[in-house]
Amino acid sequence: MAALTSTDTSRPPGPSHDVESDAWVLETLRRYEPATMHTQHPVVWERASGSRVFAKDGRYWIDWTSGILTANVGHARTEVVDAITSQAQQGLLHAYMFPTRVRARTVRALSELSGFAQSVLYTTGAEAVEGALKISSRYAMARSATQPRTRPRVIVTFHGSFHGRTLGAQLAGGLPAQRDWAPALDDIFVRVPYPARGEVWSTQDIEKALLEVGARPEDVSCVMGEIYQGSTLRQIDPLSAQSLREWCSQYGALLIFDEIQSGFGRTGALFAYEHIGVRPDLLLVAKGLSGSLPISAVLIGDPEFTRDVRPGELTSTHSGNPISLAAAEANLALFADGTLVAEAARRGKQLTDGLADWVSLLPGRRRIIGTMGMIAGVACTNEDGTLDPQSSQRLAAECIERGLLVCVPSTMGGAMLKIMPPVTTSAEEMAEALARFAAAADAVQLG
Ligand SMILES: Cc1ncc(COP(=O)(O)O)c(C=O)c1O
Repeated sequence: MAALTSTDTSRPPGPSHDVESDAWVLETLRRYEPATMHTQHPVVWERASGSRVFAKDGRYWIDWTSGILTANVGHARTEVVDAITSQAQQGLLHAYMFPTRVRARTVRALSELSGFAQSVLYTTGAEAVEGALKISSRYAMARSATQPRTRPRVIVTFHGSFHGRTLGAQLAGGLPAQRDWAPALDDIFVRVPYPARGEVWSTQDIEKALLEVGARPEDVSCVMGEIYQGSTLRQIDPLSAQSLREWCSQYGALLIFDEIQSGFGRTGALFAYEHIGVRPDLLLVAKGLSGSLPISAVLIGDPEFTRDVRPGELTSTHSGNPISLAAAEANLALFADGTLVAEAARRGKQLTDGLADWVSLLPGRRRIIGTMGMIAGVACTNEDGTLDPQSSQRLAAECIERGLLVCVPSTMGGAMLKIMPPVTTSAEEMAEALARFAAAADAVQLG
């Protein structure tokens, strides 16, 4: 299979190439896109169905990526495809912010399923993040309209967090290497240690960080965090989350949980926050919301939070696109009776047990970074226990060679394989995937 990283720029892709071949696709992308777009292993997807991704020649990979946590209900799920087709056949592809039947049905279904009073629809996760920051800021401004202010309102987030790649989302993120291109607004975005399980943490950590930028708890418009951090798979500590909840309520800051990657069955619950029993004021969802198409939402616990947002301030051209909404509506219906989530929890245990077996065969060279239902991270390690990115990347390549599609994110020095199968993966497919994974690992570390 040709590599997307080829450096031959002398020959334009042209008639001499078979435009149907994978080599043509890779060469054309390399030529017409910047190299930064080419982060994944150069395997060309032709179609995807359920837990399988197919090449043009019919070979397939068992998918441990879900298209980066999007196809939670499986790729091209029949109900989702039918809804998209039927919406397209109805002849309504776009309606801007004019009311549509499919939008009314979907926001109602979203509230009924989540228990959140209202939702604001967007297209991408980062857009929902920025919308939530705006809602929080407007809410805080209205609350303190009568008080004289000496400094801007503060957004508190956590070291190690990831919230997207647009300016606001990137500044909110806690991964310094990802935001060194952006202006430093460190008196507005205040980042504090993540309240991870097993680590000492208290809300005084927030107050200390605020003091350093001359802010008080009353200056905070929101605290935003993930239930598990996608960058390291560290999980929030339930007791710390509870004290964070109380702190936010005490000072009138909105608590935002970014469940853009952890929602819709991923962790063996509909939303990951259910595991810790702490409810946020705003819940951000995207990825698994439609099972495929671009759509995101800010779910709002109390309509009061948006009372002072100005008309039109939260809209964008493609929010509420009818085709994406049709996919989301069908997807939400699949989660309605809880069966799918219960099955995901069982499959998550099968995954965790399988990975524990894998580690036990060579404990000095293998590590589980973290697991939570149908998300897991594993890494190869050196004899001294340090992470071994080279072997992890060789492992990923061996997996793909053996028909198991995996991703290696750039975080943790590229040492973690992030495992995130569709939550609808069958027990048989999971067993087969684990066998392929074990064989790939043996080839790397025993071979
Ligand atoms: C937790 C979290 N928040 C936000 C985002 C950004 O979503 P998008 O890529 O759709 O902008 C992501 C994407 O991976 C994410 O994992």
